[in-house]
Amino acid sequence: VDNLIVLGIETSCDDTAAAVVRGNGEILSQVVSTQADLLVQYGGVAPKMAEEAHSRAIDWVTQAALDKANLTAKDLSAVAVTIGPGLSLCLRGFYILSGPGPWLCSSDFFVGVCKGREIARSFQLPIIGVHHMEAHTLVARLTDRDLQFPFMALLISGGHNLLILAHGLGHYIQLGTTIDDAIGEAYDKTAKWLGLDMRRSSGPAIEDLAREGDPDSIRFKSMSSPLMDFKCDCVRFLHLVAKGPVEVYVGPMENWKFTAISQLLDAEIPLSLASSHERSSRADIAASFQRVAVLHLEERCERAIEWALKMEPSIKCFVVSGGVASNQYVRARLDQIAKNKGLQLVCPPPSLCTDNGVMVAWTGIEHFQMGRFDTPPPADEPEDTV
Ligand code: KG4
Ligand code: ZN
Repeated sequence: VDNLIVLGIETSCDDTAAAVVRGNGEILSQVVSTQADLLVQYGGVAPKMAEEAHSRAIDWVTQAALDKANLTAKDLSAVAVTIGPGLSLCLRGFYILSGPGPWLCSSDFFVGVCKGREIARSFQLPIIGVHHMEAHTLVARLTDRDLQFPFMALLISGGHNLLILAHGLGHYIQLGTTIDDAIGEAYDKTAKWLGLDMRRSSGPAIEDLAREGDPDSIRFKSMSSPLMDFKCDCVRFLHLVAKGPVEVYVGPMENWKFTAISQLLDAEIPLSLASSHERSSRADIAASFQRVAVLHLEERCERAIEWALKMEPSIKCFVVSGGVASNQYVRARLDQIAKNKGLQLVCPPPSLCTDNGVMVAWTGIEHFQMGRFDTPPPADEPEDTV
């Protein structure tokens, strides 16, 4: 196991990332190229631009990951690459990685998958398709080597909000998801709306600004979480879970920005104050937004943990991961929730919460050890065209 060396490649959103990780969890290198300039220019992630930026960065990012690890591709045991999320937490992409090229996949993953296939083909290495959200989850088992299944996890990122019960490798029960925006997107929209500098990722910008503000200064239309009145008992919850994604309302919503924040502007903050770019008033908005957004998460997590513990009393840990989990306020609040419920919070360090290649490499290692990998694409196959 210790001799395993896996390269992980991640290009599913706006970061081009690669890392080399050893089977024992030792991180040999980690390289991330962000598309901060594009974010400023376009005010968000523009898929076509993101793909072009990935194409420009992918070669040097993977090479830098190998160089920093003092290795060449010949030394690798396998290549792992993000191929999803698809609609569910299964790993459907597995079997098609080695099929005849060019491999068809959503353009979001195309660049990374092509690079992964190219390396696997050239050096005849096994290739492992990795689900992005599973990678966010399992990286907690790299940072906390004692973390055993089953455990609960909350995954909070720019595109997803998921509450899951992790039973085993590749075996996850979805307890809840957002019915509209993910919480990271709400942070991003609020940052944009407040005119914060997008060159700093907007989540951290809100987090910083919120430290200066008074979280109780602004009354949102709904001071409690949007589904607070939606009290579901266990049976109802189960029933709802079976129905899939509409059951649990995790994460703040579009209309917090469009109704709550904008109405509050009209009603409670003198418009002149907000538009004067007065830093303190923007800090109050950031702090109040963050408080309500996270309050909502807390309440949903509490309920989901209670439910999960009834089903699976052996759960000891509550994993919180994904970009938003790098937020210190989020971590502190959810730590309290976990403690109240008798669970231990497991939260990877911030650099492993946001998108990275380490989580992909590590998830590849976990699957590889279980014999779940794909054979290399045929060496004489024509190259994929990016
Ligand atoms: O997991 P991630 O890096 O990419 C996706 O899979 O989406 O998450 C990115 C999201 C962005 O919405 C970003 O604003 C948010 O995570 N984020 C934060 C913080 N750092 C990143 N949100 C709040 N506070 C932070 N410190
Ligand atoms: Zn992510």
